[in-house]
Amino acid sequence: MMERKTELVYEEYNDISELEAADAALLQQAREISKQAYAPYSKFQVGAAALLNNGKVVVGTNQENASYPVGTCAERVLLGTAANQFLHEPISAMAISYQGAKVLSDHPISPCGMCRQALSEYESRMKQPIRLILGGMEGHIYIIRTAADLLPFAFTSTELK
Ligand code: THU
Repeated sequence: MMERKTELVYEEYNDISELEAADAALLQQAREISKQAYAPYSKFQVGAAALLNNGKVVVGTNQENASYPVGTCAERVLLGTAANQFLHEPISAMAISYQGAKVLSDHPISPCGMCRQALSEYESRMKQPIRLILGGMEGHIYIIRTAADLLPFAFTSTELK
């Protein structure tokens, strides 16, 4: 038997003022677009903004449904939009933020399991890591260098060959 270890290395910042200008701008866009989320059931509005290699920014928000499982997270709404608007254009960074009537938006949230799988597929497909910038409307911010770091032992397309 061998014990093996996997490790997550990430950066933590005290607030948005410590970020590089491009990262701060992307987080600000994620914060702003979160207002447009359709989240009447959870009242938890998530906004995501992604910077593509071509310099364009694509946004997404969560879209809920009266049939709860039909709802889609902001991250996957964004990935679908990016793939349709800019086929073959990798995403270099994605900022994710949130706000809500019932929550204090003062710390980072990280993508759910299903979104981690979707982000991991997007990275493989575009052959480029997506840096994640995670932060609320205020407070600490995490930067993770690749979405794949959030999904060790991912199930990938290589298993299907
Ligand atoms: N949600 C997202 O859109 N992204 C996340 O990273 C976490 C959760 C949404 C799903 C649902 O509409 C609401 O937030 C509460 O779970």
